[in-house]
Amino acid sequence: MADDVFQRVDELEEATIQRIIDRLEYRGTDPVFAAMRDAYLDAIDLAAADRVIEIGCGTGVVARAIARRPEFTGELHATDLTKAFVEAAARFAEAEGLGDRINFAVGDANRIDPIDGGYDIVIGHTLISHVADPDGLVAAASAALRSGGRLVLFDGDYASLIVGIGADAELDARVMSAAMQAACANPRVLRAMPRMLRDHGLELELVQDHVYSEVGTGEFFVGLAEYSAPIVSGVGAVPRDDVDRWLAGLRQANADGVYFGACNYYASIATRPQ
Ligand SMILES: C[S@@+](CC[C@H](N)C(=O)[O-])C[C@H]1O[C@@H](n2cnc3c(N)ncnc32)[C@H](O)[C@@H]1O
Repeated sequence: MADDVFQRVDELEEATIQRIIDRLEYRGTDPVFAAMRDAYLDAIDLAAADRVIEIGCGTGVVARAIARRPEFTGELHATDLTKAFVEAAARFAEAEGLGDRINFAVGDANRIDPIDGGYDIVIGHTLISHVADPDGLVAAASAALRSGGRLVLFDGDYASLIVGIGADAELDARVMSAAMQAACANPRVLRAMPRMLRDHGLELELVQDHVYSEVGTGEFFVGLAEYSAPIVSGVGAVPRDDVDRWLAGLRQANADGVYFGACNYYASIATRPQ
C-alpha cells in the first residue's frame, strides 16, 4: 500500500502544507481543470438540491464554486481529514464573502455524519485516489444519500498520467512510480468505479471523460512535477539527484517546446435508487 501524503498532511512541515495549499488553489484557477469541474456541476441539478456535502474538500475550491452558483440555494457542508486545509478553506471562503454559505468541518470521508433526510448530493473531487479505503468511501457516501440522491466522484486515472519527454524512459518510469507511491494510494481506482458503485447499491447515471494534455509547452503538468518533486525525492528507487535531473529535463523540454504531459480524468455520477 502506498504511503499517500494526502492521508497525513497535518504531520508535514508548514512550508510543505503551504505548497500543497497553493497547488490546490492554482488548480481551481486553471481553465481546463475548472471546466472539468463545472461540467459535472452543470449536470447534477444543483437548483433542486437542499443538502449538499463535499467530502475531502481540501481548501474548498469546489465548495466555493458551488456556493457561487446562483441556482444553488441549499445547505452546503464541506469536510476534510486535514485540519490545516479546513482552516485555510474557511479563510478563503470568508475572503470571498462566502463564509456564511459553507459549513466547513474536519471529517473522515469514510465516516459521513448522517443528516436528517439524507444528502441530495455527495461530491468527492480528486479524493478517492488518495483514501486508504476506497470501497469504504463509496459505502459511506451511498449510506449518506437520500433515495434518489446523487454521488459525484471526480478524479484522475493517475495510472494514465504521463509527465516526461521520453528522452530517458527508464528515469520517467521510475519517477512516475515513486510519485504514485508517495502521493497516490489508488492510481487505478477509477477502473473499479462501476463495480464499486454497483456493490454499494448505486446506479451509474453518467460518466464525463476528459483528456487533459499539454503538448509542446504547458503549465499544469510541469507545475505538478515542480510541486511533487520534493515529495517524491528519496521515495523508492529515486534519489534526489535523479528527481532533480528529471525536473531539469522537463523544464528544458518545456522551454524548447518539446514537452509532453497528459492524464485522463473522469467524473462518475451515480444515483441511489428510489
Ligand atoms: C488531492 S487533495 C484534493 C482536495 C480537494 N478536493 C481539491 O480537489 O482541491 C486530496 C484531499 O483528500 C483529503 N483526504 C485524504 N484522505 C481522506 C479521508 N479519509 N477523508 C477525508 N479527506 C481525506 C486530503 O486531506 C486532501 O485534502
